[in-house]
Amino acid sequence: MEQMNDLRTLLKHDVMMLQSAEEQIIEALPAMMERASNPDLKEALREHLRITQQQRQRLNQVQGLLGADEDDVMRHSGLLANLMGGMKCKGMAGIISEGEKMMAEDMSDEVMDAAIIGGSQKIEHFEIACYGTAKTYARQLGLEEVERLLAQTLQEEKEADERLTMLAESGVNQQAEAGALASASSNRY
Ligand SMILES: [Fe+2]
Repeated sequence: MEQMNDLRTLLKHDVMMLQSAEEQIIEALPAMMERASNPDLKEALREHLRITQQQRQRLNQVQGLLGADEDDVMRHSGLLANLMGGMKCKGMAGIISEGEKMMAEDMSDEVMDAAIIGGSQKIEHFEIACYGTAKTYARQLGLEEVERLLAQTLQEEKEADERLTMLAESGVNQQAEAGALASASSNRY
């Protein structure tokens, strides 16, 4: 079995997986926006959809720079071919599917908002890990423009994560807690 011993090939693979991840996020975000109640959260998700569409474009640029559209990646067999199977990022698919299960649950608006923030942060953290790794490979390979583009998206993902943390801390989670207390006391009387 051929070994994946070429860092550039590994980077191309990771960029393709990121492309798949961003596409899945673009598909998932409208339902999350729909299910959210807090206007600030809805707005943050809407803004992140716009940014994610730009990130997908940026990955096209990266792929162009890497020559990922050439069929050289596909010529590899063995381990790489297995990893490329379906070209779908299953890590992101798992996170999104967990989120969808959560959104199908019956819960108060406030608790649902807290769950949506939690799910969104899992998405962001996964992306931060993947972009951070890809950026490091690009630096090791001396691919300055690729590194710059990946660093730009990495920064945006970190900012999105911080915005979600601020939303959670600035009230959404407290509202969820207050809602729970209110319904507990109304049950008591
Ligand atoms: Fe993203």
